[in-house]
Amino acid sequence: MPTYSVGQDPMQMTCSIVEVKPERLAEVVEIEKLCFSAPWNEESYRAAMSGDSYFLFGLYTSGRLAAYILFQDVLGSLELVNIATAPGCRRRGYAGRLMAFMLGSRDWKDIALEVRSRNDPAIRLYEKFGLLRTGVRHGYYSDDGDDALIMTRHNERSDS
Ligand SMILES: CC(C)(COP(=O)(O)OP(=O)(O)OC[C@H]1O[C@@H](n2cnc3c(N)ncnc32)[C@H](O)[C@@H]1OP(=O)(O)O)[C@@H](O)C(=O)NCCC(=O)NCCS
Repeated sequence: MPTYSVGQDPMQMTCSIVEVKPERLAEVVEIEKLCFSAPWNEESYRAAMSGDSYFLFGLYTSGRLAAYILFQDVLGSLELVNIATAPGCRRRGYAGRLMAFMLGSRDWKDIALEVRSRNDPAIRLYEKFGLLRTGVRHGYYSDDGDDALIMTRHNERSDS
């Protein structure tokens, strides 16, 4: 399994981005529960990862999972399915590193995702990586009626 060293974080701990192995899904689900109102369980992750188009990478600091990203790659069209940083590890640049890792790890043409319209931190994160609001699904989230924003970015480099 490849490991990508991504230097040191502001806490002076070594960070690495590694594909999450099935036996380490419990750590993902632990963070997932702390971050989402409708968290995925291990089964959901296993089901997604049984297809060969899904990729789950974790950012580990000193051996502990601090953040993760789940995305799908269908012939260069990326869909960001999930990204989260453990509550105690936020604002250290981890999600940004995972976004940069995903976008730098492969050739891609387009990226798309859905995000709650009230999720400012995530929207700002995506805007930082050049994604624009290109659509809205009104009242999409049944728990609180929030809208889903659709954010997308086209990779100009893929045109040449
Ligand atoms: C959104 C989330 C993944 C950001 O993780 P993070 O590791 O704290 O983000 P980073 O430290 O890498 O920040 C990268 C950029 O995101 C934006 N950002 C992150 N948190 C922010 C906040 N609380 N307020 C405003 N902007 C924020 C900023 O643009 C930041 O860049 P900057 O530091 O140069 O200003 C994290 O808040 C989280 O896990 N939220 C719960 C799960 C979630 O909502 N996931 C998205 C599902 S669509």
